Amino acid sequence: MASILLFGATGDLARRMLLPSLYGLDVDGWLGPDVRIVGTARSALSKADFQSEARQAIEPHQSGGLGAKGDVERFIARLDYVPLDASNRDGFIRLSDALDGDNDDVSIFLSTAPGLFAAMIEGLRHAGLTGPNVRLALEKPLGSDLASSRAINDAVAVAFPEERTFRIDHYLGKETVQNVLALRFANRLFEPLWTAGTIEHIQITIGETVGLEGRVDFYDQAGAIRDMVQNHMLQLMALIAMEPPAKFDATAIRDEKVKVLRSLRPIDMQAARSHVVTGQYAAGHQGGKLVQGYTEELGKASDTETFVAIKAHIDNWRWKGVPFYLRTGKRQPERRSEIVIQFKPVPHSIFDAVHVGVQPNKMVISLQPDENIGLTLMAKRPGLDQEGIRLQEVALDLGLANIFSDSRRRIAYERLLLDLIKGKSTLFVRRDEVEAQWAWIDALRQSLADAKVKPLLYAANTPGPSAVDDLLERDGAKWHG
Ligand code: BG6
Repeated sequence: MASILLFGATGDLARRMLLPSLYGLDVDGWLGPDVRIVGTARSALSKADFQSEARQAIEPHQSGGLGAKGDVERFIARLDYVPLDASNRDGFIRLSDALDGDNDDVSIFLSTAPGLFAAMIEGLRHAGLTGPNVRLALEKPLGSDLASSRAINDAVAVAFPEERTFRIDHYLGKETVQNVLALRFANRLFEPLWTAGTIEHIQITIGETVGLEGRVDFYDQAGAIRDMVQNHMLQLMALIAMEPPAKFDATAIRDEKVKVLRSLRPIDMQAARSHVVTGQYAAGHQGGKLVQGYTEELGKASDTETFVAIKAHIDNWRWKGVPFYLRTGKRQPERRSEIVIQFKPVPHSIFDAVHVGVQPNKMVISLQPDENIGLTLMAKRPGLDQEGIRLQEVALDLGLANIFSDSRRRIAYERLLLDLIKGKSTLFVRRDEVEAQWAWIDALRQSLADAKVKPLLYAANTPGPSAVDDLLERDGAKWHG
């Protein structure tokens, strides 16, 4: 019989993502009839309390069209709850008892403060919950720098070998992120063009309209660089830039990603001044109301960045001289995540530039809010054109949302939880990847500190400080959108 243990079960992630995702899997028949889900956290809830919290979390999904009332009841009946203080090892025995001694196939999801990881692992070991059929998923933040990330990885490795450790980066569960692999490696067309010879630069943007969302203490310790770049943005970059893996399996794909991460050019002090812009949002009007600035929300002065743009390089043959412009920020005018592949111009234009010059092709892989892939191409405008052919940039749009309109859009965690249950590691981050990510981020943060780079203020609902445009304009480029 299989069990799922959710640590941090009363938290925001469980309510917004994990419980609805498990419910979605249940509706689609992915959870066997005997699978039980045991939630645990510090709160002294009863099983009935937890079930009622879970009901509130999933009912909006049901009323939104996912499953029927009977599905909700079946799912709720799977749930149990055990209050647990991580420092008390005996509490873990009660947890194991809740599984009726059935430790055959257990998936554990830890979404708790990393400071508790070592005690958690020790408790799990004490209760016999670290055997060969137990898999452990770890939610970020996994440390705040390379040293603390190593300490967490070491603590976990005492009881869980790498093949049973599943580090979450929820971006890897997003449909379009995997579509990047399909696009690159299931089509003959693009791969020969995917090099410095043809690509001028690449942009990766993750813009969010939200501010702190109540995560005041966490965010002020983290900032955009650690919260978004260290994980999601570097993973996107690795998927875009990696060499073709020999097969679609966990080792082959992660081997290729880690090579990219290790080839990132360290940002030194000079590059910190010229290739990085950090920002912090100030008050502004958004969504028809005045929203507070970051420090007002926080209630104190702070140098934490809520926005960052970086010109990065991958020092290898394929990407020699191709800038990767990364930018992410809170309180942006729109929620938009995308990857833009900007191709080089044609080497020589045979067309008269009087009407419209030949524009270089551009591929836009949209992740959010809609998933799509588009390509801009030059076409001839209809007409007799006695004074020379008129060209126009036109969009070749895959319209993924329409083609696959009959498929349900899934929460990224649905895929990740299912893979965890099935023991498939491809979409989880391997230790060497996380550590390569931290090594680059640590050096970047050190260089920013040494160069005394401080975040520039930008008004909420604007696309970051104006210096962000200069970062590209100096190279004769422009941000997309
Ligand atoms: C999380 C960050 O990892 O990703 C949040 O901690 C951020 O600050 C979130 O809001 C963005 O995820 P998504 O899926 O909404 O783009």
